[in-house]
Amino acid sequence: MEQKNTILLEKLKDWLSKNHKSKDHLLAMEKWIKVVYPLADDALIIAAVAHDIERAFPLEEGEVKPERIEWDDKTYLTWHGQRSARFIESFLLNNDADPKLVEKVKNLVANHDFGGDEEKIALRDADSISFLENNADMYIDSLETGKTIEQIHDKFDIMYNRISSAKARELAKRYYNDAIQKLEAI
Ligand SMILES: [Fe+2]
Repeated sequence: MEQKNTILLEKLKDWLSKNHKSKDHLLAMEKWIKVVYPLADDALIIAAVAHDIERAFPLEEGEVKPERIEWDDKTYLTWHGQRSARFIESFLLNNDADPKLVEKVKNLVANHDFGGDEEKIALRDADSISFLENNADMYIDSLETGKTIEQIHDKFDIMYNRISSAKARELAKRYYNDAIQKLEAI
């Protein structure tokens, strides 16, 4: 990684670790994107770590978060991706990132739930592994806030089943199995 980008990434990780409730999920993305896609360039690594950044920012006045009816609700996921792209863009511009890098990171982040080319598919695969590794407990805890066991099971299935590469699926399998086992033990 270019030295300038290493500094940017460190600053981003530091900020996320202080401000984002899924910090473990985001910080683990640096490792998983490199495992899933060893050719990952600086933009892909930064996008992987930043992809859910918007959740650290409360809604501004007049901003409406679309209702998420299904886990894979396209309107919600588009809103979430674009909102994250907006926040990482400001962060990068405020830290004098290269404009080409900013454009690429924005595009990857905006589409992180949709796949597409090789890099976006790798990003989505890494997201699934890191989600199953780090966020499962948080989702199981959300049973207390009105989600049903079936809904949480469904979320874990979606995250696992959307994985494209055999390698990523193999890596995710034990986290998926652990998550389902915990859920079924409730
Ligand atoms: Fe994520």
